[in-house]
Amino acid sequence: MEQAVFPGTFNPPTIGHLDIIERASKLVKTLYVAVGNNPKKSKQEATIEKRLEWLKLITSNLPNVQVVSFEGLLADFARINGIKVAIRSIRGALELEQETMQAKMNKAMTGLETLFIPSDLPYISSSLVREVAVNKGPIEAFVPYSLVKDILIAYS
Ligand code: COA
Repeated sequence: MEQAVFPGTFNPPTIGHLDIIERASKLVKTLYVAVGNNPKKSKQEATIEKRLEWLKLITSNLPNVQVVSFEGLLADFARINGIKVAIRSIRGALELEQETMQAKMNKAMTGLETLFIPSDLPYISSSLVREVAVNKGPIEAFVPYSLVKDILIAYS
């Protein structure tokens, strides 16, 4: 496959996200990791600059990964950049239902297809990581090692 986009809020990126990025990067020539702003998400958000910096750091060993940000609809971002496939990760059955709805809407809007990759890791979620970080708990098992200190600072 020529190119694909892996969108997310990445607030913060976790080892679960990195697992998907590494696996997806082997399937495409160029993988865009696209940081979106989701207004429904927590107010407890690291800045977009911080999230881009974190993602660039943890993907610096993956030459075909480009970290970018986008505003507005994912389907529009993909259309404007000539990207035909979005990658989404599935952690369990409940998520599949939610993601399928989003995938169908994206397909209906601009023809953007979605490829689901099942997570290989135990359940990890960014909001739970934030909760642990806010309380200065141990986040080492959930986020890439190089980000641990900075994430603890960002959410403290
Ligand atoms: N490992 C760890 N965590 C994972 C994961 C994995 N493999 N896969 C998903 N997650 C978690 C994230 O940690 C996050 O957890 P949280 O809810 O506790 O914070 C959760 O899954 C979902 O986050 P994310 O993958 O970032 O998706 P999202 O639901 O925040 O959506 C966009 C982000 C950017 C893809 C979506 O909002 C979007 O497309 N926005 C643009 C507007 C648009 O086009 N809307 C669609 C209309 S159909």
